[in-house]
Amino acid sequence: MSKPTLTTESGAPVADNQNSSTAGVGGPIILQDQHLLEKLARFNRERIPERVVHARGSGAYGYFEVTDDVTAFTRADFLNTVGKRTETFLRFSTVADSLGGPDAARDPRGFALKFYTEEGNYDLVGNNTPVFFIKDPIKFPDFIHSQKRDPFTGKQEPDNVWDFWAHAPEATHQITWLMGDRGIPASYRHMNGYGSHTYQWTNAEGEAFFVKYHFKTNQGIRSLSSEQGAELAGKDPNSHQTDLLQSIERGVYPSWTLYVQIMPAAEAADYRFNPFDLTKVWPHADYPLQRVGRLVLDRNPDNVFAEVEQSAFSPNNFVPGIGPSPDKMLQGRLFAYADAHRYRLGVNHTQLPVNAPKATKANNYGRDGLMATNAYGRHAKNYEPNSYDGPAQTNEALSAPLAVAGYTGTHEAPLHTKDDDFFQAGELYRLMSEDEKKRLVDNIAGGLSQVSRDDVIEKNLAHFHAADQDYGKRVEARVRELRED
Ligand code: HEM
Repeated sequence: MSKPTLTTESGAPVADNQNSSTAGVGGPIILQDQHLLEKLARFNRERIPERVVHARGSGAYGYFEVTDDVTAFTRADFLNTVGKRTETFLRFSTVADSLGGPDAARDPRGFALKFYTEEGNYDLVGNNTPVFFIKDPIKFPDFIHSQKRDPFTGKQEPDNVWDFWAHAPEATHQITWLMGDRGIPASYRHMNGYGSHTYQWTNAEGEAFFVKYHFKTNQGIRSLSSEQGAELAGKDPNSHQTDLLQSIERGVYPSWTLYVQIMPAAEAADYRFNPFDLTKVWPHADYPLQRVGRLVLDRNPDNVFAEVEQSAFSPNNFVPGIGPSPDKMLQGRLFAYADAHRYRLGVNHTQLPVNAPKATKANNYGRDGLMATNAYGRHAKNYEPNSYDGPAQTNEALSAPLAVAGYTGTHEAPLHTKDDDFFQAGELYRLMSEDEKKRLVDNIAGGLSQVSRDDVIEKNLAHFHAADQDYGKRVEARVRELRED
């Protein structure tokens, strides 16, 4: 079989890919060996900055199919007809570790979904947990510093992890979730995905609703115990990647059913707790799950670097009929992601195939910057307004306006009548079986007992006591036991 010719980057044939050019036999290498120089120089540039969080991940393409009519709540085009399919790309991830960290860690999992809709790409950048540790974005860099490697020791430190949490009573709910049975998913296929934040839907009449997204796995929830996780993380650090890749290659396509909880916008102000507080769930008894559609992953990327490492999701990528809520965390994220992409990938990252719209085309006046290609041709103007036939604004807001009142200032989010940082953590604890409670307490105490300062331990114990007396007592007893050992 005749093979194609190996070429340099500029397309010239390569004479020898085994021996570099030298000055005589056994002599030093000569500078004119273009192929060698190019190969070594390219190799030095093969890594880009990893994501500052969620560095380790796996991705797959698929589709979303609408199964239920939600047009009363949103005018989003991709949701407007039962049976309509939209191409998607989903990237799963762990959060705290760097690239190369083990998949089977006790850590939230990212669930970042891109819908390539006919009205532009819609990114829903969620996790496998319905809540989060904090509720103001100004705390996010400190929070992440405390969970990642310490600048001096170069490793994760229980002192830092728990010291941050000692100062973040609002994290008690998410800690209870993370240290519980769902804290180490058996694979990416066996976990749910959540939008976590409250988002806004707007229907064709301009009526606004607040919504929370729930993607329920159709593979069933499967998790690992701490011992199983530690063993698997050591034996096969790529366990989740292997599972996802092989399952799709075998034609066993993972799927999730999407449900939403829908709150009419007028009910938000008087709801018994702040519906935009990311540390809380909305009880299903108040707002039941309503089915929307089905997400199926059926194609692996051909190149992990090009399509997974370079994929970019921004919570600010909305389409008509969907918008943000006033959740402060979400508002902070609306800035953070595209900024990260411009740093990590460059200003033209939206032109990469995985990030570019597929069902429509971007059409605007941005042109230059690193790695620009000219997609517009020689006659297109790069300014607006213009007297030519360049693209023009629609004068239609994507979503309904949010009502605001009062003065600017560094305000805490408003407290509603039932708001506190602990009651939902207590409710989650009381839902657990005796065995689950035992594992939860062991997992928390396993970490907390390693903390060097008693005052930090005491502050954390106070949070578990506040959530539920029995919960607090048992964590305290187990921590004391482990510290006496
Ligand atoms: C104010 C709070 C937050 C900030 C400032 C923040 C910031 C970031 C940044 C800078 C990245 C890296 C983006 C990149 O390089 O492509 C990232 C990734 C990610 N974040 Fe957040 N984050 C926040 C909260 C959250 C929350 C609450 C969730 C889930 C509900 C979340 C889910 C994710 C996911 C899934 C990724 C990975 C996306 C991917 O696969 O490319 N983050 N975050």
